[in-house]
Amino acid sequence: MESDLGNTADRIAALKDHFVWHERFEPLQERLSLLMEKRLADLSADRITEARGIALSGASGTGKSRAMTHLISGIWKRFAEHDLPHGAIISLRVPSPATLKSVGQMVLRALGYKLSAERQAWYIWDLVRFQLRERKVLFLHLDEAQDLSSRGTRNEMTSVASMLKTLMTDEDWPVGIILSGTTELEEILNHDPQLARRMNTIRFDPISAGANAEDVQGLLAGYAKRGQIRLASDTVGIPLSERLIHAAAFQFGLVIEIIIEAIELAYVRGDEILSQHHFAQTYTDRTACADAFNPFIVDDYYAIDARRVFTRETDRD
Ligand SMILES: Nc1ncnc2c1ncn2[C@@H]1O[C@H](COP(=O)(O)OP(=O)(O)O)[C@@H](O)[C@H]1O
Ligand SMILES: [Mg+2]
Repeated sequence: MESDLGNTADRIAALKDHFVWHERFEPLQERLSLLMEKRLADLSADRITEARGIALSGASGTGKSRAMTHLISGIWKRFAEHDLPHGAIISLRVPSPATLKSVGQMVLRALGYKLSAERQAWYIWDLVRFQLRERKVLFLHLDEAQDLSSRGTRNEMTSVASMLKTLMTDEDWPVGIILSGTTELEEILNHDPQLARRMNTIRFDPISAGANAEDVQGLLAGYAKRGQIRLASDTVGIPLSERLIHAAAFQFGLVIEIIIEAIELAYVRGDEILSQHHFAQTYTDRTACADAFNPFIVDDYYAIDARRVFTRETDRD
C-alpha cells in the first residue's frame, strides 16, 4: 500500500465526500419534496398560500447537517428545472449568541445586503422580508437552530418564533422555514403552538447495537471496499459493529467518522489490513481516554458512556 501522505489525503477526502444513504432520510426527503413541489406549483399558478416548514431534530453527530446539505443539493437540481437559482433556498448556521437581531443581520448578509448603519431588529427584519421577496427566496434553512433559544430569555424566544411565523405567512411572499438542530430545538416549537402547527417535526433517533449492528457491518465493509483496504478477521463480525456503535455514542454520523479515521490511521501507517487495534487507537486519539474506557479494548464496554469522551482513570469511582 502507498503510504505517501498526499495520496492518503486524497483518498481520505474521497471517503469523506461519499454520502451514505440511510432509510431514515426518506421521511425527510419526502416532506422536503412535498413542500417544494407545492411551492413550485403555487409559483407557476401565481398563487399565494401560507408556507409550511420542517423541523429536524436529533443528537449531535447523528448526521443532520450532512443530510440537509445532501438534500439541498437535490433541491437545487429541481430548482434548475424551473429556472430558479441556487439562492432560492438559503442555508445558514444560526449565530451564537443568537438574538432576533443577530439572526436578521446574518440572513441579510447571506442575501448580499450590507447594512450601512447600526439598526434595530424590527428594521432589519423588514429589510429581510423585502430582500427575501426581491431575491425570490422560497426556503430558508437554519442549522443549529436550537441556538435560537440559547439566550434563554422567554422574550427573545417568543420574538424569534413569531418572526419565523411572519415569514411563513407573509401575504406577498411566504418563505418556507427549515430548522435543524439538537433536541432542544423542540423547545422552541413547544413554546409556540402556532409555529409548531406550521412545522412538521422529524427526528433522527440514535441507532442501537441490537437493531443496527448488521447495517454498521455493511457500512464498514462498504467503506473498506471504497478505501481499498482489507478487513482483518476481528473487524468483519457483529462484535466489532456493536463496539463501534457504542464508541460512537449511538450516533450514525459518528460511526462513519470513526470508520474513516481508522482507515486513515491504517493508511498513514502503511498497513494493508484494517483491524480492531486501528479502531482502538482512533478512539484513544479522539477521546484521550484510558484503555480501561476504550470500547475497542475492554470486553465489558457496555458500561462505558461514550458521550463522556474525556473520561480518565481517575473518574472511575
Ligand atoms: N449520510 C452520511 N454519509 C456520510 N457521512 C455522514 C453522513 N451523515 C453524517 N456523516 C458524517 O458524520 C459526521 C456527523 O454528521 P453531522 O451531519 O455533522 O451531524 P449533526 O449535524 O447531526 O451533528 C460528519 O463528519 C458527517 O460528514
Ligand atoms: Mg450539525
